[in-house]
Amino acid sequence: MAPTQSRFTRRFRNALRSPLTVLGVVTLTAALLVLRYLSFDTSLALDLVPYASHNDNSSTRVESAVYTLASQTTPSGWRETTIPNGAHIHGFTVLDSIYLRNGTFYVVTDNRTSFPPRNRLLSRPVESRAGVDTEPTDEHLQFIIPDEATRILGNHVTRIKGFSVIVYDPSQFTKHFYHWFGEIILGAWRVYSHLLVSKLGSQTSPPRFLPFPRRFILPFISNEEWRDRAGIDGPLMRAAFPGMAIEQAAYWDDLKKVGTTVVFERVMLVNRRAAHKHPFGGVWFKMIAGAMNVTVSQDFWAPVRESLWRNILAPGFISGTIHDFSRLPLVTYVSRQGSGRRLVAADHDALVVALKSLEAEGICEVQVAALERMGIREQIELVSRSTVLVGVHGNGLTHQLWMRPDRRSTTIEIFMPTGYIFDYEILARNMGHRHYAIWNDTYLTYPEGTYHKGVNYPAGFHGNSIPVYGPTVANIIKERLSL
Ligand SMILES: *[C@@H]1O[C@H](CO)[C@@H](O)[C@H](O)[C@H]1NC(C)=O
Ligand SMILES: *[C@@H]1O[C@H](CO)[C@@H](O)[C@H](O)[C@H]1NC(C)=O
Ligand SMILES: *[C@@H]1O[C@H](CO)[C@@H](O)[C@H](O)[C@H]1NC(C)=O
Ligand SMILES: *[C@@H]1O[C@H](CO)[C@@H](O)[C@H](O)[C@H]1NC(C)=O
Ligand SMILES: *[C@@H]1O[C@H](CO)[C@@H](O)[C@H](O)[C@H]1NC(C)=O
Repeated sequence: MAPTQSRFTRRFRNALRSPLTVLGVVTLTAALLVLRYLSFDTSLALDLVPYASHNDNSSTRVESAVYTLASQTTPSGWRETTIPNGAHIHGFTVLDSIYLRNGTFYVVTDNRTSFPPRNRLLSRPVESRAGVDTEPTDEHLQFIIPDEATRILGNHVTRIKGFSVIVYDPSQFTKHFYHWFGEIILGAWRVYSHLLVSKLGSQTSPPRFLPFPRRFILPFISNEEWRDRAGIDGPLMRAAFPGMAIEQAAYWDDLKKVGTTVVFERVMLVNRRAAHKHPFGGVWFKMIAGAMNVTVSQDFWAPVRESLWRNILAPGFISGTIHDFSRLPLVTYVSRQGSGRRLVAADHDALVVALKSLEAEGICEVQVAALERMGIREQIELVSRSTVLVGVHGNGLTHQLWMRPDRRSTTIEIFMPTGYIFDYEILARNMGHRHYAIWNDTYLTYPEGTYHKGVNYPAGFHGNSIPVYGPTVANIIKERLSL
């Protein structure tokens, strides 16, 4: 080692022992970090004029195609807020260039009538209880004209690039596998997929070209309270949308405290109460009832399902080495005998016997699964391989989201006789699986365009003695698998 170097090292070590020098080093590092942060910040905070003429060719094909539709710039230099391709239904709205300042959304537009009423976009983010006012106010969202934008929003905006999903709700109805994936994610993805549908109603690009969200924002939820008790939603979000940030109330508060205006390049704004205002809300009584009336390609969900498969299952699953068509179709019976809402014990046993007799006949493979005792990957692998999913009304049937739709794919839901609610039927309709409701030894199934009238919760709906006649279920499966 050269003597100069060792002398230098020694001096440096000595210097480090002096508290004053340590202070200097810390200060210098901090200053460098601040400088770096500042230059980073400036590149984000674009002047209005450059922003308005901004043309980003780095985005994917669909992004740029859709932005052409939306690039409305006013003489004042403000990019107007738009709903690209009319992708909106009560409670689910795609908004391009939506502004946010001090926690209030601003829609900048010269044509107020081209937007739906405010209460179809969002509600006051409070828990639903009798007597609570949920009507949104100017504190939540305002419509302003471009001429007043500079006065209200200032003359700088920070641009938040890419696609963001904002769930404008408290945690009351998020912490549940069905509510989260079957309503919020499915509804949002369905309405978002309308961006690929041309005015003539035919699809312009395959669904895989829609960019995935870069961030999920939950402005009114803290401490991870969006998560379900079974702990499924978190891991499945990471598997379906790897690398996506999930931000909560603290993020929203940070944006408020910065004190400037941000503009989200593209947002899917989700709100439960606004969604329920759709006329179909009174037909199916579900948050995604209205979204069912939004035209999308038949397999609009495929990108999310396939992303989850790709990230959670063994390689080759999609190409078919695992989902081997030479194998017998798989019937999975999700047993709830270990939980509250369940079958009469003897009926459960007889159902298993009836299903196993199908297996003995060589019609299918049968798996009886207690999901609560399985790992997440095992659950996903099982349902992804299944053609038929059977179970008592309950969350296990949300897993039909990961089942491959085809002409035989079927969801069989066992209800307390006369009981009916639409949770899993509406999922089946979205997925393209046929849904059967079983009332002991009878069944109901509704082809497209028809549906059960109303909901019904008879006594024992959530009880532990739901009857089922096994051979009725076995006969449906036999018929479906012969298709
Ligand atoms: C973006 O791409 C289009 C088409 O390839 C091209 O005509 C245009 O000049 C590009 N714009 C910029 C700013 O690079
Ligand atoms: C921000 O909004 C809050 C209400 O949410 C209000 O009390 C406060 O004065 C606002 N701050 C500014 C700078 O407008
Ligand atoms: C405003 O929007 C409505 C609804 O989209 C449309 O019919 C009307 O022509 C628009 N007005 C102007 C001035 O663009
Ligand atoms: C459902 O969509 C159709 C076709 O766009 C439309 O004519 C009808 O009014 C919609 N129904 C409701 C209740 O919004
Ligand atoms: C269910 O159906 C079977 C077969 O028809 C019948 O024997 C049984 O009594 C029914 N159970 C109930 C609770 O209705």
